[in-house]
Amino acid sequence: MMDPTTLDRFREIVYTASGIALSPKKEALVCARVGKRVRALGLSSYEQYLDVLAEDTTGSEIVQLMDAVCTNVTSFFRDADQFDFMVEMMERWLEAGQTRFRFWSAASSTGEEPYSLAIALLEAAKGHVTDTKILATDLSTSALARCAEGLYEARRIETVPADLLARYFKREKHDDEVYYRVRPELRRMVVVRRMNLSTPPFPMRGPLDAVFCRNVMIYFDNPVRLRLLEDVQRLLKPGGYLFVGHAESLTGIVSSLKYVRPAIYVRN
Ligand SMILES: C[S@@+](CC[C@H](N)C(=O)[O-])C[C@H]1O[C@@H](n2cnc3c(N)ncnc32)[C@H](O)[C@@H]1O
Repeated sequence: MMDPTTLDRFREIVYTASGIALSPKKEALVCARVGKRVRALGLSSYEQYLDVLAEDTTGSEIVQLMDAVCTNVTSFFRDADQFDFMVEMMERWLEAGQTRFRFWSAASSTGEEPYSLAIALLEAAKGHVTDTKILATDLSTSALARCAEGLYEARRIETVPADLLARYFKREKHDDEVYYRVRPELRRMVVVRRMNLSTPPFPMRGPLDAVFCRNVMIYFDNPVRLRLLEDVQRLLKPGGYLFVGHAESLTGIVSSLKYVRPAIYVRN
C-alpha cells in the first residue's frame, strides 16, 4: 500500500515524464511496478525512492522508472487486418511508381510492430528494390534495446506465418533455448530511436507514408493525445495513413484525419 500523497507524487512524475495519466485507481499497479525499483536499489520505502528521483540530476533513474511503469505488450502482426491493408496500399503505391517509403512505428516497444511492417513492405515489393526506412521509437530504453537486437524467443514468433518465418528470420540456439533473429535486410530497414510522444514537435520533417501509433494513446489524456495527433498530421503526406489501436477511436478529436475503417485513418 502507498499513502495517497506518495501515490500522487508518482502519478505526477510519470505524467510529466511521459504523458501517461495513471488513474488513482491504479494504485496496485503503481505499487507493484515502483516496488520493483525500490527493491532493485535496496531501498526500504517508496518515500526513499522519491528522494532518489528528486536527487537524480542525470535523469537516468527516471528512465528506469519509466521502464518499470510502461506496459510493453506487443506481438508480430498484431491486428493482422491492418498489415493486410498496408500491403494493399503499398502495392498500389509501387504500381504508381513510388520507390521511396518512410514509415514511423511511434511506440514500437520491443520491435515486433516495425519488423512486421518491414516484412509487409518486402512482401508487397516482390523483389523490387525500394528505399525504405521505418523509424521505430519508444520511451522505454530496455524495449528499444531489444528492438535493436532483433532476437526473439520462440514463443514470440508464434504469430508469424511459417513461410514468412522461413524467409525473414534465422533460427539460433543460445544456452539450449531456440531464438529467431530478424534477417539483416529487415534490421537494416529499421532505425531505432528514443522518443517521447508527449513532447512534440518531433524531430522529423516528413512526409511519412504511414504512422503506426497503436496501443499507446489509451495511456494518455486528451490534451496529450491532441498534441501528438497534431504533429502526426503535420508529418503524414496527404493520402498517408494513421493506424491506431482498436480501443483508440479518434472520432471528434482531429479534423484533417478521415476515418477509413476501424483503427485506420487517412490524411486529407
Ligand atoms: C502496449 S505497447 C504497444 C506496442 C505496439 N505499438 C503495439 O501496438 O503492439 C505501448 C508502448 O508505448 C510506450 N510508451 C508509453 N508512453 C510513451 C511515450 N510517452 N512516448 C513513447 N512511447 C511511450 C511504452 O514504452 C510501450 O512500449
